[in-house]
Amino acid sequence: MAKPPILQFGPYPDWDQQPLEEAFEMLKLYEADDPKAYLAEIGTRVRGIAARGTHKVPREMIAACPALEIIAVYGVGYDGVDLDACGAQGVRVTNTPDVLTGDVADLGVAMMLALSRNMVEASRWARSGDWATKGVFPLTRRVHRRPAGILGLGRIGYQVARRLAGFDMEIAYSDLSPRSDITEWRFIPDAVALAEASDFLFVTLAASEATRHIVNAGVLAALGPDGMLINISRASNVDEAALLEALEARTIAGAALDVFAGEPNIDPRFLALNNVLLQPHHASGTVETRKAMGQLMRDNLTAHFAGQALPTPVL
Ligand code: 8YV
Repeated sequence: MAKPPILQFGPYPDWDQQPLEEAFEMLKLYEADDPKAYLAEIGTRVRGIAARGTHKVPREMIAACPALEIIAVYGVGYDGVDLDACGAQGVRVTNTPDVLTGDVADLGVAMMLALSRNMVEASRWARSGDWATKGVFPLTRRVHRRPAGILGLGRIGYQVARRLAGFDMEIAYSDLSPRSDITEWRFIPDAVALAEASDFLFVTLAASEATRHIVNAGVLAALGPDGMLINISRASNVDEAALLEALEARTIAGAALDVFAGEPNIDPRFLALNNVLLQPHHASGTVETRKAMGQLMRDNLTAHFAGQALPTPVL
């Protein structure tokens, strides 16, 4: 039986690529010299798309694949996929929730600690000899027992909050409604009020048009000069221009960011700042989690082409 043709947007580790090649005909868009011409050539054959959380799958691309049945995203976020176009064309969409939650929460907490205790600069201080020549490292800011806000108490936000509880932090959260099973964390529905109550504001919302720039100039002003922002969700949840202004004017204390508008290119204004911690969108980037994500993406594709229920459907 012919292998279902799958359009592949970017490379995967060998442990995923090999089983993908065994089960499917992988059509590598990212290796094409002229991706547009390649899509025009093979689009009518494509039955599946294998994308990553960071890939855009716009309406035109979906329309260019009239036989498309499924888009399997290697990532929990599917904001890059035009769901309306998928719905209209009867295309199924899957993602990889749960398997990456712990790693994303771990990195978010690590980013808070690294930023607040200025660990990257402190490491440079120790390595460079500044310790011997300049003396003790400038004082940093405490983490434990300080107030933290979680903007979006989904799977990842919840796991961040659990970890922060281990640091005896005062935890508050925003979401569409309060969680009836949670009494120890304060529910503050409004983003500005949450920022006002927080020294560390974690952005853990699934991104959509409705959440675009939810962290705006007003939220940053409310976070204030002692406040730090940690974004492990999507860049679109934060007004990056307002954030850069706040960081440059020191109206907030700092930001730890795993995601950027226009990534992998970062606005050079960030590079000139010493109150930021910059990470290359790798919160889910551990061997353990990426293996589980690859497996789940393949399980979704396999189930679809076997006519079985999808393990983790979005649409
Ligand atoms: C990326 C992510 O998918 O899960 C998500 O939504 O953004 C990440 O896990 C991952 O970097 C693969 O591109």
